[in-house]
Amino acid sequence: MTSKPTNQTIVEAKPASFAPGGALTGRTTVPGDKSISHRSLILSALAVGKSQITGLLEGEDVLATAAALRAMGATIEKKGDIWTVHGVGVGGLMQPDTAIDLGNSGTSVRLLMGLVASHDISVTFTGDASLSRRPMGRVIEPLSDMGAEFTARMSSDGKACLPLAVRGLCPAVPIEYRLPVASAQVKSAILLAGLNMPGVTRVIEPVPTRDHSETMLKGFGADLTVETDKEGSRIISLTGEAELSPQKIKVPGDPSSAAFPVVAALLVPGSDIVVENVGINPTRAGLFTILQQMGGDISFKKKRTVGGEPVADIHVKHSKLTGIDVPAEVAPSMIDEFPVLFIAAALAEGTTTTSGLHELRIKESDRLSQMAEGLRVIGVEPTEKEDGLTITGSGGEPLPGGTNKSAIETALDHRIAMSFAVAGLVTDAGLTIDDITPAETSFPGFADLMEALAS
Ligand code: S3P
Repeated sequence: MTSKPTNQTIVEAKPASFAPGGALTGRTTVPGDKSISHRSLILSALAVGKSQITGLLEGEDVLATAAALRAMGATIEKKGDIWTVHGVGVGGLMQPDTAIDLGNSGTSVRLLMGLVASHDISVTFTGDASLSRRPMGRVIEPLSDMGAEFTARMSSDGKACLPLAVRGLCPAVPIEYRLPVASAQVKSAILLAGLNMPGVTRVIEPVPTRDHSETMLKGFGADLTVETDKEGSRIISLTGEAELSPQKIKVPGDPSSAAFPVVAALLVPGSDIVVENVGINPTRAGLFTILQQMGGDISFKKKRTVGGEPVADIHVKHSKLTGIDVPAEVAPSMIDEFPVLFIAAALAEGTTTTSGLHELRIKESDRLSQMAEGLRVIGVEPTEKEDGLTITGSGGEPLPGGTNKSAIETALDHRIAMSFAVAGLVTDAGLTIDDITPAETSFPGFADLMEALAS
């Protein structure tokens, strides 16, 4: 049995079985957006004065960011539904007394590495087994160009990994950096570092990624511009030595979490649900578009803007899905949603192909091989390529499944766990996953919410 280390405790793995229940009906909400929650805590900690956040995701990943910011001097408290952050001002972070454990959270470590890089402090970051396998060189490289120094553990295949120590430089040197991989974490790390140095930091993004950092930095009063050059690359320029003013932030529901009830409702006959207050930023909403193209009955009601982010209530009805070729270009706008898309593909009529997904191999787990392996356990035979899966679906027939088979391995990966929980609803014989606790990193209350929709 695996176990999942978090900040201070060892959480025992909790196997769970999922089996067909009734149709999913009714209205629900999902927890706050993980990306926006991290950023709202970080920017509030850098503002001068008191910010207030509602709708914050209270999952382990975001709580790890909050604990890290506290360790560096910010005051962060929760009363009722409101999180209050007393920021220390850009440049005001303090040396923490101990190493900072960021559990499973890649976003926390990469964004905080950026923050520390331009402060005159040294910080050691650690994480769980999954986070400790993930490559950090992509952030170390640009932040080193700015003057920060890193000492990282080298993995057996020569990658810089956690634990790692950062020695920040103040003042650091602004850079112009063209992103070699489409990564919002790398982009955001560089921009956060750029806040505390003289001059203009520039990130060139050939393929657009989630733009929450840009939107929120502007909202806090940073001098940030975005232009598009003639090749279509986004050029993001941030003027340093910024002064951020405190804000009141409303975090919308996470489209990456809404993805699970949405796909479940499409797949389970008779379902008809509304997921209220979900972020539908186009840099995040690729899954919904692809599911619509597969024939999914998904519509967006009461479209509105909350805190600069587009939000809607998502109405979903059971639908017959047809396999498609998912273009590689959409990958960044649904990078976290491929595991659950693979489940939808397994129930569609015909074949779904995906490509351009090398990044999936270095997420919380190698999501291409974990999904392929789990699908085989429940009777689906995907073809695994280096950069994607090809899946021929059942045409809506339940998948074999089987709780007597070996438990599906979730590899400390919340999205693998939740994707197979959805798959269990459309099997003949149910299925067992080896551990449901990873869902707590991004979707506290996941199993209860799914159960409530089915009853
Ligand atoms: C995130 C960016 C993405 C995504 C992750 C959250 C963010 O990672 O997979 O879950 O909040 O910036 P990459 O930057 O590695 O693509």
